[in-house]
Amino acid sequence: MDRRERLIARAKQGYRLAFGAEPSRFFAAPGRVNLIGEHVDYNGGYVLPAAINRDTVIALGPADKNAKGCAIEAVAIDMGSARCRIDCEAPLVPSDNAWENHVRGVIAAFRALGHTLRPARIAIAGDIPIGAGLSSSASLGVVIALALSDYSNLSLSPDVLAQVAQSAENDFVGCACGIMDQMASACAQKGHALLLDCTTHQHMPIPIDPRLALMVIDTGIRRQLTQSAFNQRRAECEAAARHYGVTSLRDLSPDQLEAGRAALEPVLYARARHVVHEIALVEPAAVALARGDTALLAEVMAASHWSLAEDYAVSLPPIDALVTLIATVLGDAGGVRLTGAGFGGCLVAVVDQAASADVIAAVEQRYNPTAALAARAEVYHASAGAAAIRTF
Ligand code: GLA
Repeated sequence: MDRRERLIARAKQGYRLAFGAEPSRFFAAPGRVNLIGEHVDYNGGYVLPAAINRDTVIALGPADKNAKGCAIEAVAIDMGSARCRIDCEAPLVPSDNAWENHVRGVIAAFRALGHTLRPARIAIAGDIPIGAGLSSSASLGVVIALALSDYSNLSLSPDVLAQVAQSAENDFVGCACGIMDQMASACAQKGHALLLDCTTHQHMPIPIDPRLALMVIDTGIRRQLTQSAFNQRRAECEAAARHYGVTSLRDLSPDQLEAGRAALEPVLYARARHVVHEIALVEPAAVALARGDTALLAEVMAASHWSLAEDYAVSLPPIDALVTLIATVLGDAGGVRLTGAGFGGCLVAVVDQAASADVIAAVEQRYNPTAALAARAEVYHASAGAAAIRTF
């Protein structure tokens, strides 16, 4: 049994235990790692994430025959098999329960779009580490949206499913996230990164040269206060955009950034500078990825990391130390940077296949279970976006 089959078996077993019946359909949505374009999505710019070979899976079956009305019943196997029952027709407001809000938020978003859902029961299980910056939340929203819409024969595109999942996160979970994570989870292609324009939502797959390995280095530091700090960064960017008179920082040129800096608070200038510089790194990163140009990846990923650390202030000293260690081991053989929202979580490295063992060894040598930093490096694979799994 491979990883995905084990996950499906866990969802199936959880469904049986919770509902005393057999599920009839299965769905999966992957997490993501962002290669470059960090804190750019909510500023309308370009990003370059890839879906990863870690998923959230749903086992789905029909509603209880004896139940009245239209309800979605859910069990979260990884949350101690916590359960909820949500009436699809009653008014919906956020609850105190974070995972349940993803289900509520998706149902509310479908309703706002005028869609009617069929009552169903779902069991949810996942293997994306939670709080590690690999978008377990986005994949949860996307897989719920996919499962409920598929069962209701809504035939919605992956882009719409991503938007539904983002609305759930914005309106019910309370995170003012952009669209990147959900689009990566819904639309990515195997072996490719997703070049996404976060204003128009147009996207194209960028092939990852097969000589490259995609690595995720879990710093072992779990994110803290991410939501409030994240929402604060977003508000700072919006304030900077207002100062410059642009709709979003994506529309700010490097010249305008400097010309208008005098009357701007230094913190807001630093945030805007990160966004403008980061957007300019996305195209060279996409070219480097497709060509297998590891020296260029080293350059652009270093520029991105230090901009995140210094201008955007979302890194931490032990994370910077780990980035420096890995960058030194790699030299021109690949790039490394903090990925995702920051304040802990994971690094991403894109490296020459032959260099991945050196990165793993360097991180292992530093690994010390008694120290605060219990880091771990692993090779991941760029995977396909969310899909129904009908063959199980
Ligand atoms: C989180 C958010 C995304 C994006 C990244 C930072 O993952 O959910 O929308 O803003 O942080 O790039």
